[in-house]
Amino acid sequence: MRGAYMDYYLKIFLVICAVHQITSGVIKSTTDAAYKKYLSLRSLPFEDCASSTSSLYQVSYLDIESCTTLPCSMARNATIKVTVRFDDNGNGVSFLKHEVRWVFNYIKTQAAITPDPCDGDHGCIMSATDGKAYWANVFVNNTLPVMKGSMLWESKDANDQNLICFQVPVVITV
Ligand SMILES: *[C@@H]1O[C@H](CO)[C@@H](O)[C@H](O)[C@H]1NC(C)=O
Ligand SMILES: *[C@@H]1O[C@H](CO)[C@@H](O)[C@H](O)[C@H]1NC(C)=O
Repeated sequence: MRGAYMDYYLKIFLVICAVHQITSGVIKSTTDAAYKKYLSLRSLPFEDCASSTSSLYQVSYLDIESCTTLPCSMARNATIKVTVRFDDNGNGVSFLKHEVRWVFNYIKTQAAITPDPCDGDHGCIMSATDGKAYWANVFVNNTLPVMKGSMLWESKDANDQNLICFQVPVVITV
């Protein structure tokens, strides 16, 4: 008899645990979704080219120093800080090799990025609530044409695997 009672209480206990687990799972995914929404509302709009370049991770937030409207106005000879958040699916990404290009009338020219690569030595990559965040400085070369175009940002891992790709409209100014 005692054994049967034990069994009964154990079953109830297990059911409570299961319900608790499901509920906290639902709350967690709801919080994640709400946080992603919050980030996307605060982010500068950008074109995510992750799928067309088979990049592993999705960008959730983009900030470009002193840019609030598109196209981003960028003065020649300026050094501009770019901050990006992305979801690395818990993979603990700690190395990013940047390949950033200016695109004007379909002509692409390499942009100078510092630090590049971004590894543990520069404090340029850190953990964020929803994955990882990194910052880098892009230099607006004096030789760039004064016109509208875009900045195409790709980041790869040490094995040249594409991790991130986004593109944002810019206008170069003097
Ligand atoms: C470019 O910027 C650097 C550092 O801010 C400054 O020393 C230099 O004079 C600038 N060059 C031109 C051509 O404006
Ligand atoms: C600026 O552009 C010129 C011409 O493309 C290039 O030779 C030079 O290295 C560039 N400067 C930087 C800092 O990237």
